Formats: sequence, structure tokens, C-alpha cells
Amino acid sequence: MGDLLVKLYDLPKAEPLPSGFRIKRPLAPEKRTVVSWVEERFGDRWASETELAFSRHPLTCFVALDDSSNLIGFACYDTSFKGFFGPTGVDESFRGKGIGTVLLIRSLEALRESGYAYAIIGYSGADDYYGKTVGAIPIEGSEPGPYRDWIRRE
Ligand SMILES: CC(C)(COP(=O)(O)OP(=O)(O)OC[C@H]1O[C@@H](n2cnc3c(N)ncnc32)[C@H](O)[C@@H]1OP(=O)(O)O)[C@@H](O)C(=O)NCCC(=O)NCCS
Repeated sequence: MGDLLVKLYDLPKAEPLPSGFRIKRPLAPEKRTVVSWVEERFGDRWASETELAFSRHPLTCFVALDDSSNLIGFACYDTSFKGFFGPTGVDESFRGKGIGTVLLIRSLEALRESGYAYAIIGYSGADDYYGKTVGAIPIEGSEPGPYRDWIRRE
């Protein structure tokens, strides 16, 4: 699980979302809704990173919603480290519809808009997917990378 490098000056255009779905940057009053959703599905560490995304202006997070505005996915950037993409996740029952890739590309575009030329996908675990979608390449020797020396609590 190493880190990947992405060229932000060479991003593909996102495919349209399936009908009824949309992406938005959440509002600060939606923080607890989003963070608790992330915690329930993806755990405490990703929830902590998502909380940090809500401390910024503009928030460094995008969410995917269905046609009833139910939360079905999220993606953060610039959280644990500057210039990093992640964490990201789509509710299991909505995977494989292209939603995760739209969240990914929108987040990478936001990193580009904020001045980065390259982004890093931290602790990937899905190298083939990121290579195929945004041309990400592994950073040699980046395992375990900066995510190490975790605090433990008895
Ligand atoms: C990764 C994730 C956000 C993708 O969301 P999604 O909406 O299903 O993504 P898309 O529909 O745009 O793309 C699906 C593609 O991603 C691939 N993919 C998803 N997770 C993958 C993984 N861990 N390794 C390799 N490929 C993966 C699927 O096989 C599929 O490939 P296909 O298009 O060739 O069939 C989603 O699978 C998820 O929430 N996974 C659990 C959390 C996670 O691993 N987050 C990323 C950590 S770096």
C-alpha cells in the first residue's frame, strides 16, 4: 500500500454522473451528518480526516447525493497532508456506477485550482484503478510512507 503520484495538468474529463445523482461541496452545517456517515461505513480514522476537511474554506471535501439528497459517497483532499487526495468512499450499494471516479476527478481538479501541479494518493490499495482512471503511478519506496507510527490507546 504505497503512495501514487498524479499529474494534475493531464487530468481526464469526468464522465457524466448517472441520472439522478449529483456532486456538491457540502456546507459547514452538514459536517456532523457527513462525518458520522463516514465513521459508520469507513471508521474513525477516515472520519477524523473528514472533520479536518470541514475546518477549511472552501471545505476540502465533495459529497455525492442521490435524487432524494441522501449521502452516498464522499471524497476529501488536502487533509492529513497538503496535496494529498483521500480519504474517499462510496456506499457499497452504489459502487460501480462511476460515482467514485467523478468524486476523484472533481477533487483532483480542486487541488489543481488551488495551485498544485501534482497530487499524491496516499496509501492507495487500488493502484490499478487509479492508474486506469487518472494515470496515477506508484512512488517508489513509499510504503509505508507518511502514514506510520500510529498512536495507540489501550
Ligand atoms: C474506491 C471506490 C471509492 C470507487 O467507487 P465507485 O463509485 O465504485 O467507483 P467507479 O464506479 O467510478 O469505478 C469502479 C471501478 O473501480 C474499481 N475498484 C474499486 N476499488 C478497487 C480496488 N480496491 N482495487 C482495484 N480496483 C478497484 C472497480 O473494480 C471498478 O472497475 P471497473 O470500472 O473496471 O469495473 C469504492 O470502491 C469504495 O468506496 N471502496 C472502499 C473504500 C476505498 O477503498 N477507498 C479508496 C481508498 S484509496
